[in-house]
Amino acid sequence: MIETLTPLSEQQRAIQLLARDFATRELAPHAAAWDRASQSDPVIVRKLGELGFLGMLLPENVGGLALDSLSYLLALEEIAAADASTAVLMSVHNSLPTRMILNFGNDAQRDRFLPKMATGELLGAFALSEPDAGSDASAVRTQAVRDGDSWVLDGTKAWVTNGNTADVIVTMVRTDSADARRGSRGISAFILTPDLPGFRVGKKEDKMGLRASPTVQLAFDAMRVPADRMIGEEWQGFVYAMQSLEAGRLGIAAQAVGIARAALEAAIAYTRERHQFGKPLNSFQAVEFRLADMATRLHAARAMLHTTAAAKDRGLNVGAHAAMCKLLASETAMWITTHAIQLFGGYGYVTDYPVERLFRDAKITEIYEGTSEVQRIVIGRAVAAR
Ligand code: CAA
Repeated sequence: MIETLTPLSEQQRAIQLLARDFATRELAPHAAAWDRASQSDPVIVRKLGELGFLGMLLPENVGGLALDSLSYLLALEEIAAADASTAVLMSVHNSLPTRMILNFGNDAQRDRFLPKMATGELLGAFALSEPDAGSDASAVRTQAVRDGDSWVLDGTKAWVTNGNTADVIVTMVRTDSADARRGSRGISAFILTPDLPGFRVGKKEDKMGLRASPTVQLAFDAMRVPADRMIGEEWQGFVYAMQSLEAGRLGIAAQAVGIARAALEAAIAYTRERHQFGKPLNSFQAVEFRLADMATRLHAARAMLHTTAAAKDRGLNVGAHAAMCKLLASETAMWITTHAIQLFGGYGYVTDYPVERLFRDAKITEIYEGTSEVQRIVIGRAVAAR
């Protein structure tokens, strides 16, 4: 096991071991089959809920574990090392819809949704992107028009993780009008539930990796949403989403660290066992150096993540650092999984070993919750202070 050097409290260590035990028993043995079937076992959501892993960052008064960010990220790394698809379910749920409702919702919304989201009775999703609004998130076109005590929504959301299985979907749509566009300041956030008339699950994406995690389009056809489903103030939805994505990006960084660790551990085990030219692969210095570089990059990505998590818990603004963590961890995961395949040779290219799945799973961490290019925009603006 490639352990972290970060000093852990007793509670953090206990959470890490709980997650590792669960991941080893309940996820790792099934990850390859779920990937092939493009479907996980729905019972996993209930089990994550029973462990408290779907309310890790929520306060105790709504049934959460009220844990610090590092505990949460340690758990996510363990889950991702076993099954990255389960990790994204957990990351999106904990970081985005629950945090949006907790931080910006009113008491009635918190009381109605959060206790059940903390236990996994209600699963959350986050619908920001659209077919023509990905990196340029403020270009969303889904329109809400006020009609009495409802809003009527029309449009299509894209790339929604858990969109077909979620019970609570936080979405960002325009509430300005076509004659008076307000850009990113014309967007408001709403809490949707699939029972709303006019809600429809659209195309399910056939993805390269993370195949056991569903990603779908959502269509809103004159969907009537009660006005009390708006989160916070009108026209603040983009800002709420950006603030929530800061936490989300730490979760994706932890997922990437977990994927990278799994690939490195697989490569260490394989190069110890595999013999060529009469000796184990790891006795060749080229192999040893490659493993050394993989371990060094993993350590750097994880150390940056843990330092940033600790700073966040001290109340510091870590927006740009969260972007750095996601950028470094996702590119590290891609690099490590690529080199792991090379060390496996032909065996790395086939499904008998896990590294080809880890490579496919790593790629999305450079894309979702803000591409590497978007992370560089966020970091660059902070560095240049503009
Ligand atoms: N906190 C508070 N306010 C913020 C903020 C933050 N972190 N980021 C931006 N804002 C505010 C700005 O201050 C600005 O306010 P004013 O209008 O008062 O000046 C306003 O929001 C607009 O901000 P920008 O001018 O920076 O906006 P922009 O159009 O230049 O976009 C961007 C910036 C960083 C590129 C942003 O669009 C972005 O992050 N894009 C990527 C979106 C993304 O991550 N999508 C992933 C969706 S989730 C997903 O992947 C699916 C899933 O299920 C996993």
